[in-house]
Amino acid sequence: MSETKKRIGFNAFEMNCVVHQSPGLWRHPRDRSRDYCRLGPWLDLARTLERGLFDGIFLADVLGVYDVYGGDARAALATAAQVPVNDPLLLVPAMAAVTRHLGFGVTANLSYEPPYGFARRMSTLDHLTEGRIGWNIVTGYLDSAARAAGRPQQAAHDDRYELAEDYMAVLYKLWEHSWDDDAVVADRARGVFADPDRVRAVRHEGPHFKLDAIHLCEPSPQRTPVLYQAGTSPAGRAFAGRHAECVFVSGPSAAVLRPRVAAVRAAAVAAGRKPDSLKVYALATIVTGATRQEARAKHAEYRSYADIDGALTLLSGWTGVDFSQLDRDATIAHVENDAGRTALENVTRADPSRRWTVREAAEHVALGGAGPVFVGDAVEVADQLEAFAQTTDVDGFNLAFAVRPETMIDVVDIVVPELQRRARYRTTYDEGALRHKLFGEGAKLRAPHAGATYRGPNRQT
Ligand SMILES: Cc1cc2nc3c(=O)[nH]c(=O)nc-3n(C[C@H](O)[C@H](O)[C@H](O)COP(=O)(O)O)c2cc1C
Repeated sequence: MSETKKRIGFNAFEMNCVVHQSPGLWRHPRDRSRDYCRLGPWLDLARTLERGLFDGIFLADVLGVYDVYGGDARAALATAAQVPVNDPLLLVPAMAAVTRHLGFGVTANLSYEPPYGFARRMSTLDHLTEGRIGWNIVTGYLDSAARAAGRPQQAAHDDRYELAEDYMAVLYKLWEHSWDDDAVVADRARGVFADPDRVRAVRHEGPHFKLDAIHLCEPSPQRTPVLYQAGTSPAGRAFAGRHAECVFVSGPSAAVLRPRVAAVRAAAVAAGRKPDSLKVYALATIVTGATRQEARAKHAEYRSYADIDGALTLLSGWTGVDFSQLDRDATIAHVENDAGRTALENVTRADPSRRWTVREAAEHVALGGAGPVFVGDAVEVADQLEAFAQTTDVDGFNLAFAVRPETMIDVVDIVVPELQRRARYRTTYDEGALRHKLFGEGAKLRAPHAGATYRGPNRQT
């Protein structure tokens, strides 16, 4: 192949908890997930990822417990399935202080938090990271999160995306419109810090949110954080087409992901954007070693620590289906409910040539979640990554860990150099904000992205 080869980017898929996507692996003798409450291991991880020239660390989050499996939280607590879970945002300034380039994609659920204070927290993080913050826009899939917020259950699936539209309009107005670029004059002689004529109140009267307020922060390097999104249902795709800059997709095979990636790029086109204005990352796990034998032995060893109850706890939460009620050898059938749509599709009708039993789905999910597991030495893994990226048209991978931090150290030391040798991976970071590093067009949102149209004094709010 020639130099037109598309570059592959890596994100580390992380969460401020013990078990993220690999239930049971916390028991592995080399795993350090138990240390998640301490800052030191997070700082070490950030340094490792920057050494490996990762695009970013992506921090997932949930605001409730996985209590669908068995109808209560017992299995989630016993297997540490995403509970206990600490706040992701608070890790960011510390990790930013020990890195210069690594991006931070943090998940925040907009269903349970008014936009005004959230806008300020993200602007603050964009300032403190000098323009390296991204936001994974989620609306949740757990009824437990709704009950924690005093509601009987979560809003209906498509209604959540509609609420998200209104939320985004408020945020764009605060981030892009409230303060002009030159609003801060900091004129010591005149005693004027911000020019009041260049700062304006946002007046928003939407179906869900009303607001009359000036954004509390001066413009940050990117203004709007880099926008990530992960829903691939029809409503999710339409939302991504309008708002997302990076999209996370997950599915067990290239065959399943290929049409999803095409559909999400088509949604961007429908929103007046170019198909490659989206960076799409596929969830995947890499198990590698110095030799093929070592990699396979590691994989078998990791598998022996997988916890099927923990996997079914996660799968039940993602899909809204209580898998404790089903025989483990029963084939999974598709149902529509108000949890996420895609997780159930993955193990039902996404690939007509494949039927999944409960046990098979659990065993698949138990190592790195819903994505594929690439096993092998550097050459084998790089071959698989290249082939997968080629078939699916993704821009990179969102890498889950099996053993923490071993998985990411292996990727950085073994796989990254091989991809670099193939001219498939960056060899240095570009200077500038996260958005610039990803798209090469500056720090701020650009037209025709909907958010960019809010910038400047003339926009009516
Ligand atoms: C890789 C990936 C990461 C995700 N991370 C989170 C998360 O951290 N928190 C969350 O509430 N939802 C998360 N989701 C769920 C999505 O936001 C969305 O609810 C889900 O994909 C279902 O959307 P859909 O029904 O439109 O397909 C994630 C999804 C994927 C594929």
